[in-house]
Amino acid sequence: MLELRNVTKTYGTGPQQVVALRNISLIVEPGEFIAITGPSGCGKSTLLHLASGLDIPSEGEVLIDGKSTRDCSDDELTLLRRNRIGLVFQAFNLIPTLTALENVVLPATLNGKSFATQMGRGRQLLEVVGLGARAGHYPDQLSGGEAQRVAIARAIIMDPEMLLADEPTGNLDSESGLSILALLEEFGCSTISTPAGPVQRSTMIVTHDESIAAKAPRRIRLKDGKLV
Ligand SMILES: Nc1ncnc2c1ncn2[C@@H]1O[C@H](COP(=O)(O)OP(=O)(O)OP(=O)(O)O)[C@@H](O)[C@H]1O
Ligand SMILES: [Mg+2]
Repeated sequence: MLELRNVTKTYGTGPQQVVALRNISLIVEPGEFIAITGPSGCGKSTLLHLASGLDIPSEGEVLIDGKSTRDCSDDELTLLRRNRIGLVFQAFNLIPTLTALENVVLPATLNGKSFATQMGRGRQLLEVVGLGARAGHYPDQLSGGEAQRVAIARAIIMDPEMLLADEPTGNLDSESGLSILALLEEFGCSTISTPAGPVQRSTMIVTHDESIAAKAPRRIRLKDGKLV
């Protein structure tokens, strides 16, 4: 479903220039559950941003179903992220003026799905992530770990074929971390029905937690922007 072909990403120019990823090639097959590990600054978030089409590589190609994100229009990339690829940001990116439940449900309503149905599903997902009692709270009334779980519920409600999550357990104690991992695994193992028939989802999570990474069938380690 996803292929990175000789991907390099540089930020800035001249003396400010940072090479965040160096010549990365990687294929993600449907059904895979992958953990990405590596030290701070090694390019993990950059990799997820490129894989979701949020950013475009400086060199090389990111191919989604064989099409390079470089050749997609802004509208195509927006639809890709709305309909097929769920990204949970490291910094959550919740909308501060909306409650937890409204944050979960908002992107799903942009797809034209019924508001009432989505509100029901949103409540159900907040229960699953242990936040049933926080549905009416605003992001600044939530702890870091709670905000992160709202962001995960928001990604799952979109029913994406590919779920990319940046440190989804980073602010959680090890017990809640494992329960979020279980949720991601359960979601990742389910299939999604498409016009072309059932498709297996793929999941990529960034984590610095070795006990979380150890549970992933495939692990990718980055160092200084390179695959090791
Ligand atoms: N927008 C940007 N402009 C300039 N440099 C950037 C930008 N985003 C990231 N970088 C740099 O690119 C490198 C890789 O950053 P990235 O965020 O991918 O690291 P990371 O592995 O996710 O780190 P962490 O574990 O701390 O989240 C870092 O050196 C960072 O300073
Ligand atoms: Mg990061």
